[in-house]
Amino acid sequence: MESARFRAQEWFVNPDLVRVSSACDRRFGRVLGATAVALALAELGRTPSRVLDVGCGHGEVLDILRRQLPAAELVGVDPAAAAVAATRDRFALDHRVTVLEAGAEDLGPAGAGAQAGQFDLALVHLTLALWPDPVDGLCAVLDRLAPGGLCYVLELLRPADEVALAACLAPATGPAEARYVREQLALWPSREEAAALVAAVGRRSGRSARLLFRGFAELAVMSEVDSAATPNVWHVFLS
Ligand SMILES: C[S@@+](CC[C@H](N)C(=O)[O-])C[C@H]1O[C@@H](n2cnc3c(N)ncnc32)[C@H](O)[C@@H]1O
Repeated sequence: MESARFRAQEWFVNPDLVRVSSACDRRFGRVLGATAVALALAELGRTPSRVLDVGCGHGEVLDILRRQLPAAELVGVDPAAAAVAATRDRFALDHRVTVLEAGAEDLGPAGAGAQAGQFDLALVHLTLALWPDPVDGLCAVLDRLAPGGLCYVLELLRPADEVALAACLAPATGPAEARYVREQLALWPSREEAAALVAAVGRRSGRSARLLFRGFAELAVMSEVDSAATPNVWHVFLS
């Protein structure tokens, strides 16, 4: 498992692989990211003043947030130095965006999270499977919420059959992107594993958790394969 996680994380560290992963994330991840932002804001029911994007990568979700929330302060965190540098460059002219080099698990009371303060909304989008300890990491993120705050997580499910696998691979434009997706999906949880993880976070944090499973088509995400019968996505509202 550790070697699979190392291999999957290399796509965000090694410059040759970063070129492939960032192109794929810009197209596919961005569509899913727009859905994630819309669902999170609808659930929150008010305009957040401060938003945390955990595992921000090259800033696709931060960019969507910048456009939709013109007055909000935005903080991205990511442990990959290359992603942090690229995202800082990307938003160098926007004083509302801060990017910290840190993993979710570093967002403890004395860590990067303390420096960043509290948040009305925290987003975790297509990153959780890479975290060394997702329960620890999510509890650390929840510690950074302001009273009444919401943490919204949207992640992919390990394909349960050939239809679900085809739906995941459909957006890949060539063999390199297909390899990127395959090395990521080795880490994605099954439905049962996702449910166990969310239950553990609920128990440890005392927060309420609403977990849902969806197909790409139901979330209006681009894929030629309608996988509603065998969901590709799990998302959870933690408040
Ligand atoms: C597929 S990218 C997703 C980026 C972004 N959320 C998006 O939707 O475009 C996954 C990111 O998770 C980051 N990551 C890996 N381990 C992490 C951890 N422990 N805490 C937070 N982020 C992590 C990686 O460095 C990578 O940039």
